[in-house]
Amino acid sequence: MKRLLHIADLHFGREHKPLVDAFIDYCVDHPPDLIVATGDFTQGARRREFAAARHFFDALPAPVVGAPGNHDVPSRALDHRFFTPWRRFERALGGRVVPRLETGPLVIETLHTARRAQMRLDWSLGRVSRGAAASLASQLDQSEQPTKLVACHHPLMAPGGLSGRANTKRGADAAEILASASDLVLTGHLHRTFALPVVGDTHVCWFVGASTTFSERTRVEPAGFNEIHLSDDMLTLVHHESVDANRFVPARAFKLPRRPGTEPAAPVAVDPEAVEPG
Ligand SMILES: [Fe+2]
Repeated sequence: MKRLLHIADLHFGREHKPLVDAFIDYCVDHPPDLIVATGDFTQGARRREFAAARHFFDALPAPVVGAPGNHDVPSRALDHRFFTPWRRFERALGGRVVPRLETGPLVIETLHTARRAQMRLDWSLGRVSRGAAASLASQLDQSEQPTKLVACHHPLMAPGGLSGRANTKRGADAAEILASASDLVLTGHLHRTFALPVVGDTHVCWFVGASTTFSERTRVEPAGFNEIHLSDDMLTLVHHESVDANRFVPARAFKLPRRPGTEPAAPVAVDPEAVEPG
């Protein structure tokens, strides 16, 4: 059994500090094997926001894997945006937030879906190329680890499909490619928790989204994070939700079967209090 925490859309600069402390406390009390951070570490890619994010990650007792989001590209410093879009992210978080990791039975890879500019009006939306997805799938295929994970900021699948804020260009193509090569694809951006399956011949790949962990910029649901227990035949997703804006409680839990056939490839609700942390 391995256990990871999935956090997203931290938006330092608009973070709610009591929840930042509550998340750190939870990690210290129940250290996970891995933390996956799916982008938008900052609100405006300012140096002080990245410094706050670094301070936060340095307080966590686990390795962190992550990829930046659209908010992590400087929006006002246009020279940085166009010529060195990821320099601030890499200088502040590089070495602490790593792009790939092999740990025990897991391998996790990340994909960049945010762009400095696009041939469409809304540059906050995601974009991924078939080539990048195929190359990442090939890396996963070559890995000997039996459980394969992918993390990126923008959704490759979403409730209701890839429209509106979920309109990730080539996202559906990438989802198809990655579903065959991985077991779990973690994303952010929508500030919404979901779990959607793609059923293959030998395994089920789950596409899981997270709400914002502690930003004041909530959308359809309160701030929260995902805790995922991984075993050979099942993923157990526990969604922790903020209460009174100063603490997290386990609010919902789902069993996500990893094998097709005997069990329905759909989340099975369970009592979150019945899932042991740590
Ligand atoms: Fe985003």
